[in-house]
Amino acid sequence: MDKNLIKLFPYTKPYQSHIVWNVIFNILYALFSTISMLTLLPMLEVLFGKTKIIEKAPVYEGIGSMMRFGKEYLYYQISELTKDSGPQFALLLVVVLVISTFLLKNLFNYLASYHIMHLKNGVLRDLRKKMFDKIIELPISYYSEKRKGDVMARMLGDVNEVQNSFFSILELVVKEPLTIVFALVTMFVISAKLTFFVLIFIPISGFIISKIGKNLKAKSLKAQGESGFLISIVEESLGGLKVVKSYNAETTFKNRFNDSINRLLKLSNSIGNKNNLASPLSEFMGITTIATLLWYGGNLVLVDKTLDGSAFIVYLTLAYNILTPAKAISKASYAVKNGLAAAQRVFEVLEVENEITSKANALEKSTFNSEISIKNINFKYEEDYVLKNFSIEVKKGQTVALVGQSGSGKSTIANLLTRFYDVNEGTIAIDSVNIKDLNLQSLRGLMGLVTQDSILFNDTIKANIALGKLDATDDEIIEALKIANAYEFVKNLPQGIYTNIGDSGNKLSGGQKQRLSIARAVLKNPPIMILDEATSALDTESEKFVQVALENMMQNRTSIVIAHRLSTIQKADKIVVMQKGEIVEQGTHEELIALNGTYNKLVMMQSLE
Ligand SMILES: Nc1ncnc2c1ncn2[C@@H]1O[C@H](COP(=O)(O)OP(=O)(O)O)[C@@H](O)[C@H]1O
Ligand SMILES: [Mg+2]
Repeated sequence: MDKNLIKLFPYTKPYQSHIVWNVIFNILYALFSTISMLTLLPMLEVLFGKTKIIEKAPVYEGIGSMMRFGKEYLYYQISELTKDSGPQFALLLVVVLVISTFLLKNLFNYLASYHIMHLKNGVLRDLRKKMFDKIIELPISYYSEKRKGDVMARMLGDVNEVQNSFFSILELVVKEPLTIVFALVTMFVISAKLTFFVLIFIPISGFIISKIGKNLKAKSLKAQGESGFLISIVEESLGGLKVVKSYNAETTFKNRFNDSINRLLKLSNSIGNKNNLASPLSEFMGITTIATLLWYGGNLVLVDKTLDGSAFIVYLTLAYNILTPAKAISKASYAVKNGLAAAQRVFEVLEVENEITSKANALEKSTFNSEISIKNINFKYEEDYVLKNFSIEVKKGQTVALVGQSGSGKSTIANLLTRFYDVNEGTIAIDSVNIKDLNLQSLRGLMGLVTQDSILFNDTIKANIALGKLDATDDEIIEALKIANAYEFVKNLPQGIYTNIGDSGNKLSGGQKQRLSIARAVLKNPPIMILDEATSALDTESEKFVQVALENMMQNRTSIVIAHRLSTIQKADKIVVMQKGEIVEQGTHEELIALNGTYNKLVMMQSLE
C-alpha cells in the first residue's frame, strides 16, 4: 500500500463513526441498486403476460431460501391481484415496488454521501490546521532555503487536492465494488454461463486502464511543484512591486510568469488528457462487452432456449449497470494518483524536523537577574563560519553596542540570542542558564526585538501593538505609543489607535512604522532589548524621533544595540567592534577613540559624510 495513504489513516480517526455509517449505507445502497434492477423482472413478466400463477402462499423456510421465498411470495401476490382485479392492478403493484426500491436506493446513497462529506471536510480542516501550526513553528532557517509561494501552494492547493480526489478512495473501496459484486452475484444466479463470459472482460479492461494511468503520479507531482513556483512569482512580484515598476522590470516578471504558466499548461493538458481518457475508454470497453453479450445471450434465448427473454433483459440492465461503477473506479483511480502526489507534498512539510524546540524538561524563566554571557561561540549558516570563537558579556542594566562593517556578523548575534538559529559550538547563557535549556517561549518572552524593517500586519494600530500583550487596555497602548514617541501622529489619525494601517503598514511613513514597532516592544516590556539597526532605514529627521523613542525604551533595561550610525551609541557602556565574525576592539567610546584603531577610523569616516 502507498505510504502516503497509510500516513493519512490517523487523520480519519476522529471521524470513525462517519466511516462506519458510510460503509453501512453504502452496503445498503449497493444492495438496493441490484434489487431495484431485479424489480424490473416481474414488471416485464406482467407486461408480457408471462407471470407464473402461484395459487398457494409460499412458506418461509429460513435464510437460505430467502430469494426463492421473496420471488414466490411476490408472484403469489401478483397472481391473486390478477385473479381479482385484472392485470392493471398487478402492474400497479409492480410499479409501486419499482418506485420504492429506487427511492430507498437513492436515500441510502444520500446518507452515505452525507457521512463521507463530514469525513472529507473534517480531514481537510485538520490537515490545514496541522499544516499551519507546522509552518508557523518551523524555524526561520527553513524559509531561507524555501520559496514562500511553494509552502503556500502546499498549504492551500495540495491539501485541497488531497480532499477532493484522494478521499474518493473511501467511496471507491466500498460503494462501487459492492455494487459490482451484488450485481455480479445476481447475474450469476440468472445465468452462470453468461457471467463467466463477462468476467473475462474485466481483467482485460483493468489492464488497459492501469497502463494509461502509469506515470500520472510523477506528472502530478511536477505540476503541483510548478504551481508552487507560480505562486512564488506572484507573491514576489506583489511584494516588490515598487522595484518592479521603478526598474521597468515588468517584462522580466511577466516572462518569468509566462514561462512557468506555459510549463504548467503542458503538464495539466497531459494530465487532463489521461483523466479524460479514463471514462470514455471504460464506457467503450463496457459497451463492447454488452454488445458481445447481446449476441451470445441472444443465442441462448433464441436458439438454445436455456434463457428466458425477460430475465435476459434484466441481465443486460444489470451488466450495463456495472459500467457506471466501473467507470467511476477507473476515473477515481486516476484521481487517487493525483491525491497521493499532493499528499506527498503535504507530508514533506509536516515531516520536516524542527531542530529549534524546547527541551522536554526545559526551564521556565520570567526574570533576568545578572548577565547574558556569550562564550566561545562558533556559528555558520552554510559552509563558512560567520562567527569565530566569539565571546562577550552583557551585565544587567548595561547597554552594549555592536558595530562593524556590514556582513561582519552583527545580526547573526541577534539571531542566536533569540534562538532563531542555534550555535554550532560554545554557549549562550542567561544568568548562567544555557538558553538551549530554557523554554523557548520564556526565552523569547525575556527579549524585545526591533529590526531595521518594521514588520507590521494589515490590521489596526492597536492590534499591531498588542501582539505581545493581547489583553492590553487602550490606556496601556496609548502609554506605549507615548514612550515610543508615536502618539503625536496616532492621535491625529481619523480613528486613532483603531486606524487600519494597510498591508505591512504601507499607509504610514518609515519613521512612523518604526515607532509603532518600538511601541510594540515597549508594551511587551521585556527586560532585554535587542535593537538591530533600528534607525538605519530612516532619514535624519525621523531618526531623531525614533532615537528619542529608543532612549526612552532603553531606560532601566539591558540592551544590545546594533548600530550603523555610530553617533547613536556613543553613550553605550561597552562598544564591541567586529570584523568578519571576530572582535577586533572593545571598550567605551573614549577608550576606543584613544586607541586610535578600527573604531576611530570608522568614526572619522562617518563624520566626514
Ligand atoms: N540566512 C543566511 N544564510 C546564509 N548566510 C547568511 C544568512 N544570513 C546572513 N548570512 C551571512 O552571514 C554573514 C553575516 O551576516 P550578518 O550577521 O547579517 O551581518 P551584519 O548584520 O553584520 O551585516 C554574511 O556574510 C551573510 O552573507
Ligand atoms: Mg545586519
